[in-house]
Amino acid sequence: MSTAARVETITESSLEEAAALIRAGQLVAFPTETVYGLGADATNDQAVARIFEAKARPQFNPLIVHVRDLKQANCHTVFDETATRLSAKFWPGALTFVLPRRTGSNVSKLVSAGLDTVAVRSPAHPAACRLLELAKCPVAAPSANRSGYLSPTTADHVVEDLGEAITLVLDGGPCSIGVESTIIDLSTKPPSLLRLGGIPSEEIEAELGPLQLAGSETILAPGMLANHYAPATPIRLNAQHCQADEALLAFGPNPVVGAKVTENLSPKGNLVEAAGNLFTMLHTLDVEGCTTIATMSVPEYGLGLAINDRLRRAASGRR
Ligand code: TXA
Ligand code: MG
Repeated sequence: MSTAARVETITESSLEEAAALIRAGQLVAFPTETVYGLGADATNDQAVARIFEAKARPQFNPLIVHVRDLKQANCHTVFDETATRLSAKFWPGALTFVLPRRTGSNVSKLVSAGLDTVAVRSPAHPAACRLLELAKCPVAAPSANRSGYLSPTTADHVVEDLGEAITLVLDGGPCSIGVESTIIDLSTKPPSLLRLGGIPSEEIEAELGPLQLAGSETILAPGMLANHYAPATPIRLNAQHCQADEALLAFGPNPVVGAKVTENLSPKGNLVEAAGNLFTMLHTLDVEGCTTIATMSVPEYGLGLAINDRLRRAASGRR
């Protein structure tokens, strides 16, 4: 049974409680200077899957990871000279960098929807800063609204839209900027602007020279990014049997038998668990040297819709 979220004003004790909930794998809505974020421990696959469930997103779009500072960002992404220079100028603040994922980073693969890049931002809002300090983990946080609805700039907006899906909303009053952060992709040469936002692009261009704004389809549907993750091994959907040279991505208590190697998204048939495991298991099966990765069908509701969407894209191959 869902109940309405509890709203707490910002105090050291509400921040401590929020940090404890995040560390325990729960979702907490919190203010940033841009919009309210729906935060979860970015290193916890299940917690990240809950974000997609709460937002009712039919697709796994990559999420922004919030960090305390450059040092924490650097544990999970590779900062080159340009990223270091821009972060010195604009962090903490409304600028997000897409950077190569650092080898060994424990950020959930679901956060970046399987891509080998991670988007990082160090927010300036004092409550967000303190929450990140207390939580100690990097915090994945998209805007705290249901997919397709407006981004929330007050705690009331969050409660109206997502109240039943979250435990705690930290109320820090209205957001000072009110639009999402600007996103710049520094993993490509030359860099490109992925989203216009809180930091005017002119200010970034003053540092980097003229920038290309990536195609509008990238902004509207980042799940369709041209370089979306697809395994090198061909995917076969809706497997009902398996051959000895195939890998199996199973779901539920009765996996198909006969595969060379099997990973089960959720033996219990739980879609949140399955979503959390999806990208890690696809990666694992991809390196087994099998002819095909056969995938069992997943129910077409809740997070099953997003899982199936991603599997169909993976089956359609690299673009
Ligand atoms: O202002 C903000 O940035 C707010 C507040 C809460 O901080 N957060 C926010 O996060 O807007 P989110 O997760 O909704 O932003 C997701 C967008 C994606 O739609 C995509 O454009 C981009 O960030 N993104 C994230 N990771 C990416 C990646 N690895 N490659 C390319 N784009 C990425
Ligand atoms: Mg949003």
